[in-house]
Amino acid sequence: MNILILGSGGREHALAWAVKQNPKCDRLIVAPGNAGIAQMAEVADFNILDGVEVVTFCEENAIDFVIIGPEAPLAAGIADATRAAGVLTFGPSADAARLEASKAFTKEICDACGAPTAAYARFTEASPAKDYVRKMGAPIVIKADGLAAGKGVIVAMVEAEALAAIDDMFAGEFGAAGAEVVIEEFMAGEEASFFILSDGINALSVGTAQDHKRVGDGDTGPNTGGMGAYSPAPVLTDAIQKQALDEIVLPTIREMARRGTPYQGVLYAGLMIENGRARLVEYNARFGDPETQVLMMRLGAQALDLMLACADGRLDQARVNWGDDHALTVVMAAKGYPGSYQKGSKISGLAAMPEDSHHMCFHAGTAVKDGVIVANGGRVLNITARGDSLADARRRAYAMIDQLDWPEGFCRSDIGWRAL
Ligand code: AMP
Ligand code: GLY
Repeated sequence: MNILILGSGGREHALAWAVKQNPKCDRLIVAPGNAGIAQMAEVADFNILDGVEVVTFCEENAIDFVIIGPEAPLAAGIADATRAAGVLTFGPSADAARLEASKAFTKEICDACGAPTAAYARFTEASPAKDYVRKMGAPIVIKADGLAAGKGVIVAMVEAEALAAIDDMFAGEFGAAGAEVVIEEFMAGEEASFFILSDGINALSVGTAQDHKRVGDGDTGPNTGGMGAYSPAPVLTDAIQKQALDEIVLPTIREMARRGTPYQGVLYAGLMIENGRARLVEYNARFGDPETQVLMMRLGAQALDLMLACADGRLDQARVNWGDDHALTVVMAAKGYPGSYQKGSKISGLAAMPEDSHHMCFHAGTAVKDGVIVANGGRVLNITARGDSLADARRRAYAMIDQLDWPEGFCRSDIGWRAL
């Protein structure tokens, strides 16, 4: 098969790494990719948000299967375009991707199918939104309805912070994404991520993970896109996974099908677990980043078979071959991230790193300059390892980091602490 993956981060490097190990994969192209991906697959440069360009590329390169990594092309309807052109596609339609692209829509679906989630109200004007906050009190959560690159959620611990967030959103801080605001009850508990493939009717769990959103050790400092992750997430016990499937995920999949907008792709349920029960925090219509790096490390080549079964409507016959293993990834970021940082610093030591079924350095934001690998983003490398235990995976990942020579980079030293 000729396979095209859309995206350019560590998630797409991990997807490419797993897909390439499967003998069904003859030719692998990633667009736009990055410097690490270019070492193991072809890369191509075209506008992945333009349906005509994507379909033309698929036709010219006889692409048999497209895997869509990030949310932006999903929300832009790329999966609709490739499916309409007859290309087998992994990723939901724009209508189904509203589960990520609109928080108000997700709440509407939860209401319609009875899925447990935080109580909420939605507003298009500041004054009634503020009255609601004054009535409910803090802590309270203020969310821009639309896609805001992970920044549109303010967990306000005091009322003044919530009122200021409402002003900022209606003043256009998040552009059109903040034209509607969802205000939610604050949920206490422990957060974890649950990844489910859906072919529109059937659902299949492909793993659990937890990430670390804060930049500093001990979960301190500003929020980031994720500084590390591990899988499985011990807090998501078999019983809680079953409850989340029965009460949240399956009812959502049925409701989406009932509306004529079936969900095909991976559904990433962000869950809050308290007193042995899960409630939905949010859905994403794609794999998580960096969670995918640990999921792919554990699934390996079978990930392609699972994604094909998902795209083909055969998930009822698919099974995951689980190993009794654990994986952990540490994000190496450029100093200054998530604030301002420099691009272009040289990264040495990559060539000596082990690359096998237990160790992999996925690239998230790198480029080649004058023949050497340089940092080209905030989150730059995802040092990922697999082991018999979480402690073993963690030891291997940090041993790999010791081999790196990149003075302009940093990482958290405590990834996995909650589970260890
Ligand atoms: P979201 O983009 O919806 O995942 O929100 C980003 C983060 O905000 C989540 O990962 C949670 O840590 C936090 N969060 C969102 N909604 C709530 C809520 N209702 N209660 C507590 N924390 C929340
Ligand atoms: N790691 C969080 C996300 O992918 O949204």
